Amino acid sequence: MNRTVVLITGCSSGIGLNLAVRLASDPSGSFKVYATLRDLKAQGPLWEAARARGCPPDSLETLQLDVRDSESVAAARARVREGRVDVLVCNAARGLLGPLEAHSEDAMMSVLDVNVAGTVRTLQAFLPDMKRRRSGRVLVTGSLGGLMGMPFNDVYCATKFALEGLFESLAVMLPPFGIHVSLIECGPVHTAFQEKLEGGLGGALDRADVQTRCLFSRYLVHWENIFREEAQDPEEVTEVFLTALRAPQPALRYFSTNRFLPLMRLRLDDPSGCSFVATMHRTVFPDEPAGAEAGAGGPEAPESSTPPAAPQ
Ligand SMILES: NC(=O)c1ccc[n+]([C@@H]2O[C@H](COP(=O)([O-])OP(=O)(O)OC[C@H]3O[C@@H](n4cnc5c(N)ncnc54)[C@H](OP(=O)(O)O)[C@@H]3O)[C@@H](O)[C@H]2O)c1
Repeated sequence: MNRTVVLITGCSSGIGLNLAVRLASDPSGSFKVYATLRDLKAQGPLWEAARARGCPPDSLETLQLDVRDSESVAAARARVREGRVDVLVCNAARGLLGPLEAHSEDAMMSVLDVNVAGTVRTLQAFLPDMKRRRSGRVLVTGSLGGLMGMPFNDVYCATKFALEGLFESLAVMLPPFGIHVSLIECGPVHTAFQEKLEGGLGGALDRADVQTRCLFSRYLVHWENIFREEAQDPEEVTEVFLTALRAPQPALRYFSTNRFLPLMRLRLDDPSGCSFVATMHRTVFPDEPAGAEAGAGGPEAPESSTPPAAPQ
């Protein structure tokens, strides 16, 4: 049987790990998965999960791939035995959380490099061959942070918004090549993402003024609540990848949860942004006055019972 060759970035933990093992252990036996990791020393949990799920031999291989390094990406591509990748999953990313002024230049550049430039490097390595073969799927771990702004996630959201633009643009151009792009838009998911935040939680908080630090503390309470109440397991998200993968004509966007769609609609329904900003502010900082800008001039923000998404 000619198996579907899948290559996934960022498989040391979380969504990438789960997706790799899910596909490699699929009862159809129809996937050959290349699970790639920035650092192969971190592959223990992946193999443990593969054993637990009973992945057949030869359904799963690991490769070193650091999206910051185009030579590493090219080397990984060269090691794919089948000489082709049918499904590319752009999953690797890093988070950055805290007041803007608390981020070091290195942390900011690192997150831009991994999340945006790293994704472009990966595409540049794998898309040309898909185009030559006139066939392929690109799946992307998207985020509600790419569809709406979230306080204290400014740079992270900037990177995820960038990916929306990148993939939406490609999706328009690629159909004549038989290539489909799908973003799997995730709300909060229980993974190691928060433990691996670039620069740690909050960054250099002493660089921020007292009021900003106070707002950040309140945001963290909100964030913890949202994660406790709304976060999904990676297994749930993985099934959404499978839905996209099985679709004969895949959509550009799939949502792992409908919970946050009202906020997205609010953004679209009032293009001025006033309604969204006021609603998001009121929900994250319920006792805080929104200030003159949010209150004056713009359309009245509807009451929303929907809390904003957690930040990934
Ligand atoms: N968790 C959430 O709430 C959530 C919500 C929406 C979207 N997402 C998205 O889901 C995706 C996966 O994140 P996750 O939640 O599963 O968190 P995770 O467990 O931290 O996974 C992130 C993966 O990216 C890898 N990575 C980081 N830098 C890399 C690099 N330079 N080259 C290659 N791989 C690199 C990490 O590897 P190392 O271990 O080596 O650093 C890790 O394997 C990300 O795109 C994230 O933005 C997550």
